[in-house]
Amino acid sequence: MDISTNPEMADAAPTPHEPPVIRREDYQPFPWLVPATRLEFTLGLAKTIVVSTLQIERNPAAQASAVLRLDGDGISAASVTVDGQESSGWEMDGDSLLLTLPGDAHEVSITTEIDPSANTQLMGLYASNGMLCTQCEAEGFRRITFFPDRPDVLSTYTVRMAGSQADFPVLLSNGNKAAEGENGDGTHWAEWHDPWPKPSYLFALVAGDLVANADSFTTLSGREVDLAIYVRDGDLGRTRHAMTSLIKSMEWDEQTFGREYDLDVFNIVAVSDFNMGAMENKGLNVFNTKYVLADPETATDGDFDGVEGVIAHEYFHNWSGNRVTCRDWFQLSLKEGFTVLRDQLFSQDMQGEAVKRIEDVRILRSAQFPEDSGPLAHPIRPDSFREISNFYTATVYNKGAEVIRMMRTMCGPEAFRQGTDLYFDRHDGEAATCEDFIRAMEDGAGLDLSQFRLWYSQAGTPRVDINLEHSGDTATLTLKQTVPPTPGQPGKKPMPIPLRIALFDRDNGSHEGEQLIVLDQPEQSFSFGGFASSPVLSVNRGFSAPVRIARDISDDDLVFLAAKDDDPFARYEAMQDLIVRHLTAASSDGLDDYAREAARRSIAQAFEAILTDETLDDSMRGELMMLPGLTYLLEQQQVADPTRIHEEREGLKAWLGARFEDGLAKLHRRVSAVAYSQESASRGARKVKTQALAYLAAANGALASEMAAAQYDAADNMTDRQGALMVLTGLSTERRSAKLLDFHERYSDNELVVDKWFALQASSLHPEAIEHVKALADHADFNIRNPNRVRSLYMAFAANPHAFHAADGEGYRLIADLILELDPINPQTAARFVPSLGRWRRIEPKRSAMMRAELERIRSAKNLSRDTFEQVARSLG
Ligand code: PHE
Ligand code: ZN
Repeated sequence: MDISTNPEMADAAPTPHEPPVIRREDYQPFPWLVPATRLEFTLGLAKTIVVSTLQIERNPAAQASAVLRLDGDGISAASVTVDGQESSGWEMDGDSLLLTLPGDAHEVSITTEIDPSANTQLMGLYASNGMLCTQCEAEGFRRITFFPDRPDVLSTYTVRMAGSQADFPVLLSNGNKAAEGENGDGTHWAEWHDPWPKPSYLFALVAGDLVANADSFTTLSGREVDLAIYVRDGDLGRTRHAMTSLIKSMEWDEQTFGREYDLDVFNIVAVSDFNMGAMENKGLNVFNTKYVLADPETATDGDFDGVEGVIAHEYFHNWSGNRVTCRDWFQLSLKEGFTVLRDQLFSQDMQGEAVKRIEDVRILRSAQFPEDSGPLAHPIRPDSFREISNFYTATVYNKGAEVIRMMRTMCGPEAFRQGTDLYFDRHDGEAATCEDFIRAMEDGAGLDLSQFRLWYSQAGTPRVDINLEHSGDTATLTLKQTVPPTPGQPGKKPMPIPLRIALFDRDNGSHEGEQLIVLDQPEQSFSFGGFASSPVLSVNRGFSAPVRIARDISDDDLVFLAAKDDDPFARYEAMQDLIVRHLTAASSDGLDDYAREAARRSIAQAFEAILTDETLDDSMRGELMMLPGLTYLLEQQQVADPTRIHEEREGLKAWLGARFEDGLAKLHRRVSAVAYSQESASRGARKVKTQALAYLAAANGALASEMAAAQYDAADNMTDRQGALMVLTGLSTERRSAKLLDFHERYSDNELVVDKWFALQASSLHPEAIEHVKALADHADFNIRNPNRVRSLYMAFAANPHAFHAADGEGYRLIADLILELDPINPQTAARFVPSLGRWRRIEPKRSAMMRAELERIRSAKNLSRDTFEQVARSLG
C-alpha cells in the first residue's frame, strides 16, 4: 500500500530495500569521545592497508554505553585489538562494527584492506589517473576504516603513509608534515599531524605524481604560511589564477571577518574525477580540476569566476565549517549557507557588486526556486533524510546564504560582523547547530530573530503581492504574503520579509532615498507622504528577500525602471519582469497579434535604452540584455508547455534581433576591437559580443553564422571562441560541423575543454540536439565513470528544455536510462539527475505522464542505491 494513502503506514518499519529515515529530532550525542586518532596507510592502487588506532574514552555528556558502535561501509575488519590485545569481543551489525568494552578508556586498533581502483563511487579512498585521493564528506570515511563517522566526534589525527616512491612521490594529509623518510626498497613514507581536532569528514589523504605551484602568505599576526597547489605535470601553467584567488581570499577573510589562517601549510590538490566542486578538508583542500585550472586560452571568463569563487569558498570553510563544524548533517546549512554568503560577498568585492548580485539571483531562481516548488522541497535545515548526499542542494546552499544575507540586511554590516565574531568566539572548536548561529546573531548583532527562525523550518518560496495606491499626497503600499504548501508542510506561518524599496518621482526620475520595510504579517500597509502624483515603485531592491514578487505595475512603469532605476538589480528585474510577463501571457492564454506587438514594442523600448545607454558598462549591459531563462519561465506557470514557451522566447529573440540588427552589429564591431584582459571593461566587452551574436543568430542565421565563424577564427581567448561556437552549434550551417571538428582537434588533450565541447552540443538550440546527444554517448571521449564528462553531456542536456522535453518523450527516456546505468557505478551523481524528471506535475499532461512513467520505471529497478531510491520515491510521492 502506498504510504501517501495510508497514514498509519508512515511509521511502519521500512521494507528491506527501503533505506531508513533519519530524523533531526532523534539526535543523541555519541557515548564515546575519540581524543586522538592514528592512521597508518600502506598505499597501493589496487590494495591499500589501513591500520587505525583510536584513543577512546567515555563521553560524560552522553548516556553511557558499554558498546562502541563504529560505522563502516563495504569494508571488513582483518583484525581488531583492544589495549594491544587481539580482541574477539566484536561483531558486525550490518555494516557497523560493535565492540563491547569493559572500562572507561581504551585504545582500539582496527585493520582494514581496501581496493581504491575498484571505487567508482568516488567516496572514501579512490584512484584517479594513477593517484590516490580521498573524499570523506559526508559519510565516506567509513569506507576507509571503522569509525564514529559523524560530524560531532572530533579527534586529532596523526597520519603515516608509505608507498612506492615512483608512483607516489608526493604524500599529503591534513595539518603539518611531521617527518618523512625512505625505506631503501623503493618505498618512502611521510607522517602528518593535524593539531586541530576535527570530524572524520574533514580527513584527507593524497598520494601521487604531482607538481606544485608554491607561494606563501603572511597572516595578520605574522604567521608564515606555505601555500601549494598540486596538479599533474602539464597543468602547472594553468594554476596562477587559483593561487592569486587563494591569496586574495586569505587577505579578505582577515579584513572582512577577522579570520586568520591557523596552520603552517595550506595545500590544494586538483583531481579530474570528483563528484562535486571541491572539498574543504583541513589544510588539504581537494578540488575538481574545473575549479583550479584556468588560463585565457582554455577557460572562459565564467570559468575564471568559478575558480575564484570556489577557491574562496573552500578556504573560508576553514572557519565556517572546520573550526566551527556541524553537530549533525541536518545543520549542513550552518556551514554551507554561511560559507556561500561569505564567498558571494568576497566575489562582490572582487568583481563589482551589481553584476555578481544579479548572477547569484539568477542561480537561485533557476536552481532553487524549482526545488522549492517541487516534490523535493525542504527547509534549509531539513527534518529528515534517507541519504544525506541528496541534501547538498541549492536550498541548503543558496537559499541558506539568502537567509543569512537577510539578517545582514536587517542589522547592517557592522552589527552583522559583531554577530559573526560572537559566533566564532563562542563555538570555536565545537560542533554547532543552526540555532547556535541564530542565537549568536541575536546576542551579537542585536536582532530579535524569534519569528525569523521560520526561515529555517519552513520550505517553499514566499509570494508577496504588492499593490500601490495613491490619493492626495499619500502613496499607500499594501503587501500580502503567502507561503505555499510543500511536502509534509501543508500550512505555513507568515515570515519576516525584509524589502528594500524606493518610490520614484515619475517626472524627475529620482527618489528621496531607499527604505527598508519588514513585512511580518499576512497583510500589511505602509503609507508615504509627499507625493503629488503617483510614484513608481522599485521593490525588493538588491533582491533583499528570496521571494517571488507579484506587483501590480504597468508596462510603462517597468520600462521606466528598466531605463532609470539606480539599483542595478531592480533595473535588471524590471527588464526581466517585462519579458516574463509577456512570454507567460503569450504561452498560456495566447495573445492576438495586436497584443503581442504592443508587448514587444514595450520590450523594444527598454532594450533600445539598454543598447544605447552610454553610462552603462558592458558587463551590466550584458545582464540587462539577457532574456529570462527557460527554466525560470517554466516556473511561472502552474502547468507549462515547454515547447510553447521555448517558441515564444525564440520568437521574441528573433524579433529583437531583426529590429536591432544594425545596433547589434555595431555593438559587436565596437566590442570586437577591445583587447583581451581580465579587466572588467574587457570582460564586459566579451559578454555583450556573444550576446549580440545570439540575437542576430535568431533573426538572421546567414549573417550570424558568418560573424560567428569570424569571431571563432579571430579569438585569442576561450570566452570568444566558445561563445562563437555556441552560436554556431545552434545553427544548421556547414560551419557548424567544421568548427566543432576544429575545436575538438585543437583541444583534444585538455579534458576540461573537451567537456565544453560535449556541453555545447548537449545544450544547443539545434533542433536535432537530442540526436547529437545520443551520438555523443558513443563517442570515444565519453566516459561514464568521470562525473565531469557525464555532467557535460547529460546535465547540459537535462537543462536544455527544448531538447529534454521532446514531444515523444525521448529526452525523458534518455535521462532515465542514464540514471539506471550510472546508479550502480556512482549513485551520488546518478541521483542528481532525478529532479529533472521530478518536475512532472508542473508540465502539460501528455509529457507529464511520460515523465512519471520513467520515474516509475526507475523505481521498479532492483538494487537501487539509497541515493536514487530516495529521490525517486520523493518525486513520485
Ligand atoms: N563541502 C563541499 C563544499 O561545499 C561540498 C562537498 C560535499 C564536496 C560532499 C564533496 C562531497 O565546499
Ligand atoms: Zn561548502
